[in-house]
Amino acid sequence: MKKSASWRSPSNIALVKYWGKYPKQIPANPSISFTLNDCYTETEVILDDKKTDATFSFEVILDGETKPDFAPKIEKFFNQIVDEAPFLKEFHFTIKTHNSFPHSSGIASSASGMSALALCLLSLKEEIAGKKEDDFYRKASEWARLGSGSASRSVYGGLVEWGRFAGMPESNDEFAVPFTGKVHEVFKTFCDYVLLVEVGAKSVSSTAGHGLMNNHPFAERRFLQAHENLEKLTEILASGDLAAFGNLVESEALTLHAMMMTSDPSFILMKPNTVHIIERIREHRKETGTPVYFTLDAGANVHVLFPATAEQKVKSFVDSELKQYLKDGRYICDRVGQGPEFVGSKE
Ligand code: PMV
Repeated sequence: MKKSASWRSPSNIALVKYWGKYPKQIPANPSISFTLNDCYTETEVILDDKKTDATFSFEVILDGETKPDFAPKIEKFFNQIVDEAPFLKEFHFTIKTHNSFPHSSGIASSASGMSALALCLLSLKEEIAGKKEDDFYRKASEWARLGSGSASRSVYGGLVEWGRFAGMPESNDEFAVPFTGKVHEVFKTFCDYVLLVEVGAKSVSSTAGHGLMNNHPFAERRFLQAHENLEKLTEILASGDLAAFGNLVESEALTLHAMMMTSDPSFILMKPNTVHIIERIREHRKETGTPVYFTLDAGANVHVLFPATAEQKVKSFVDSELKQYLKDGRYICDRVGQGPEFVGSKE
C-alpha cells in the first residue's frame, strides 16, 4: 500500500509569549500569536509497506537531502501520538519537507514544521480509517502541540490563542483555538518584517529554555502577567489602539528575554545589533510618529510589526537605517496569513 498527503503550514509570531511548560507540553501560561503567510513549511508524508521490525520506520528528507539528525525529535513525536495513531507502527514513512525561508536563517522552523507534519499524519489517519475526524483542525493542533508547543497555534490563520485563559471560555491547554474576541480591521492585515541579525544555531534550545522556568525566582509572577497581558490585549485588539498594542507587545518580548537573563544558568540571546535595532525603532517612532513596533523570539532576530498602511514608510526606514545591523543585510517581509493549506493526496 502506498499513500501520501501534503500540507503547507505557516510559522507564527507570538504577541503574548509561551515560556515555561509542564509535562506533555502543557503550557504554564496562555499565549496568542499572529499566523504568518510567507514563512511556511511544505511537507509531504509518503506511507509505504514496512520492511524492518523497528517500532517506527521513517526517514526525513529536507530539500532532497536525508537528515538523520531530525530522527530523535520525530521519534519522540511519533511516541507521543502513537496511541491515537497506531498506523505509525505499521508502515514506513518518508517525510519530504521544504521551508520557504532560507535554511539556518535563524527563523524557527519547529512551529511550521511540526504543524505541517501533524496535518499530514492526520490526513493519512483519516484516509486509512476511512473516517473523518470530528474536528480535524482541533486534533491537528493537539498533535502539533505535542511536537512543539507553539506549533499548536499554526493550524489556524489570523490571531490564534493557546492555553486556558479566563477571558476566552473556548481556550484550552491541549490545543489552540482561533481568537474569538473582536478584532479591529487594522490588525487583520498586520505586517511582520523579520530582521536577520544572526543566522545559525541558537545558543539555547527552546526545550532547555522552557526548563529554565522551573524554579525560576520570577516564574509565578510572570505566568500571572501573561494572563493580565492577554486580558489587556483582548481590549486593545478590539479598539485598534496601536500605541497600547506596541507598548504591550514590546514589553512581552523584553520580559521573555528578561526571564532568560535571570534564570540559572542565565542566557543573553540578544546581540549588540538587536539592541541597536530596538533603540532605532523607538527613536524613529518618537521622531516620525510611524506606528512601528518590535517583538523577539528566543533569539537575536527582530520582528518588526506594523499596520499594512505604514508599509512603504517602514520599508524605507528598514532599508536606510536598520539594514546595516543585519547579517548580509537580509530580512524577510511577511504578514498575517490565512493558515495552512492542503496541497494534495496521492494513492
Ligand atoms: O514551541 P517552542 O517550544 O519552540 O516554544 C516557543 C517559544 C517562543 O517562541 C519563545 C514563544 C512563543 O509563544 O512562540
